[in-house]
Amino acid sequence: MNPAQDLIKSLAEKHGRNRENLLPVLQGVVEKEKYLTEYLMIEIAREMNLPAAEVYGTATFYSFLEHKKMGEYIVRICKTITCSMKGKNQVLLAIQDMLKIGVGETTADGKFSLLETNCLGWCHKAPAMLINDDVHTDLTPETVREILSKYMKK
Ligand code: FES
Repeated sequence: MNPAQDLIKSLAEKHGRNRENLLPVLQGVVEKEKYLTEYLMIEIAREMNLPAAEVYGTATFYSFLEHKKMGEYIVRICKTITCSMKGKNQVLLAIQDMLKIGVGETTADGKFSLLETNCLGWCHKAPAMLINDDVHTDLTPETVREILSKYMKK
């Protein structure tokens, strides 16, 4: 067994091998491997005895389950209405300008990927974004530049 198969097996043992356990298993794999390759999805299907099409369908349905290589830091800016009304576009322009990438792209050094996402549940402090698991709120073009500079130095 290779390390990926070991990981999938231990997640399936922890969460169970039923259809309703597929999401936590997929999340566990993304947490460790960063994104779901075709190989990983097939291995999950095999380990859980589910059709590969079902694993693929679930993996591509949820925007938090990446299925292509991502940067070390995944910046997810909320594109839903409250954030949009409170200046998300200016914040997004500042991010794009600083990282020199568009939405859906990864910087050449592999450090940052930029994505838009639906409501993060922080509408009362809009606009909001996530960098990996860290929430950043009340963003302005100035504060987002400060936040990104800190991550650039990491
Ligand atoms: Fe952006 Fe809810 S609308 S966090």
